[in-house]
Amino acid sequence: MSFDLVFFGGTGDLTWRKLMPALFQAFRHGKLPPEGRILAVARDERSDAEYRAFIHERFAEVEPSKRPSDEEFARFAELLHYRRMDLSQPAHYAGLKDWLDARGADQVVLYLATSPYLFPVICEQLGAAGLNGPNVRVVLEKPLGHDLASAQQINRVVRSVFTESQALRIDHYLGKPAVQNLMALRFGNALFEPLWRRESIANIQITIAEGLGVGTRGDYYDTTGALRDMVQNHALQLLTMLAMEPPSTNDADAIRDEKLKVLRSLRPFTPETVARDVVRGQYRAGTVGGQAVPGYLDEVKVPPDSRCETFVALRTEVQNWRWAGVPFYLRTGKRLAGRDAQIVINFRAVPHPIFPGTTHANRLVIKLQPEDGLELHLLAAKGGGTNERLSPVSLDLDFDKAFPSERVGAYERLLLDAIAGRLNLFVRSDEQEQAWRWVMPILEAWTNDPTPPRPYAAGSWGPPAASALVARDGCAWAEEQ
Ligand code: BG6
Repeated sequence: MSFDLVFFGGTGDLTWRKLMPALFQAFRHGKLPPEGRILAVARDERSDAEYRAFIHERFAEVEPSKRPSDEEFARFAELLHYRRMDLSQPAHYAGLKDWLDARGADQVVLYLATSPYLFPVICEQLGAAGLNGPNVRVVLEKPLGHDLASAQQINRVVRSVFTESQALRIDHYLGKPAVQNLMALRFGNALFEPLWRRESIANIQITIAEGLGVGTRGDYYDTTGALRDMVQNHALQLLTMLAMEPPSTNDADAIRDEKLKVLRSLRPFTPETVARDVVRGQYRAGTVGGQAVPGYLDEVKVPPDSRCETFVALRTEVQNWRWAGVPFYLRTGKRLAGRDAQIVINFRAVPHPIFPGTTHANRLVIKLQPEDGLELHLLAAKGGGTNERLSPVSLDLDFDKAFPSERVGAYERLLLDAIAGRLNLFVRSDEQEQAWRWVMPILEAWTNDPTPPRPYAAGSWGPPAASALVARDGCAWAEEQ
């Protein structure tokens, strides 16, 4: 199968930081279909050779094990091409079409790695140029909109040019191996499904913590904030995968229908429940990984009086028979204690304890990063005597060790799926809009609330109010247990 993969925003951060290294890994692993061309499109004039040199230099910033040798890069670079385009010029799209038609690849993937405000204009121009034939797919990077209305507006334009199955909305968390394994754990093993419900589960916690701050992205971040940047998409996608009913098949729409039902079942927020169940925070100076770091208000391109949240913790419920009354806690933030993304399923304690002094219950931890694995916390007797208090022990599974040569990064997986037209890991427009619908009351409540976000020290786990949020239900975050 031949393919052409076109990156709009071909010199941008996302392209060289994430997409090119991911493609290189796919190339190195022999997973890229043969007969592929990768075309980067951007505003300035460059030759193919200059673009290849630009990408080659950028690889110096990629982690060493993922950098190509000169010989490997030379082979990879043969796939790379460059084209100057002014994205408002119809003639430039016609030129692109001629370039693509001259070869007539089986699959054409147009990846919009540009600022999202350009998506409507690019899609309209692609449609006008006839670049929306049945072998064409368009990939849309997040953020898809700023709120429900802007997301709907983008989707209207995209739908007027492409069918739903041609439009691939990326949420790179869905490409993470741990998320694949969540599907495998739930629907490939009979063991957990009978327990996966309110009768056995006390609460579920989803944490996506980052040690990094906003870096040089202060201008983007300050108009976005953690709720839009991480909760509306990544955290909610994880929640849907956890809470969905078993789909009838492994097909994209069977899965996405079930995920949509979860989003529709989330308890809607009101101004009162936002005040009670949502905590927003903003980091102050502190120490992360032994290094002193500045507070958010001192970051580059951040206004000194910004009220942007860099941390969110919230409590919600999925209102259906399976989950009624089970709290789902979501928490994400920048400049927290470290890079740590995990899902913790806290099971209920035994109904009638016979071992004295044992307060723990079983816990399943699905680790997304930095390691990718599973931990099942059990209780066991050390063998120290009768009437002994039980001790917590865990069964650990490290996927990197279990499948050493087969790990595929999130963007690598998603790019390969986009080329092959596998839609399971892409977000459908109705899911995406429903996620916006659910976060809107939070955004609106915050707009009307003059209280600034709660401060927290960089390197901590967020404001104390986040602990109080779960303590109210008699729970604690994993690191406090
Ligand atoms: C992106 C956000 O979607 O995800 C970033 O815009 C965030 O702010 C990043 O840092 C986190 O991704 P990962 O894969 O490093 O956890």
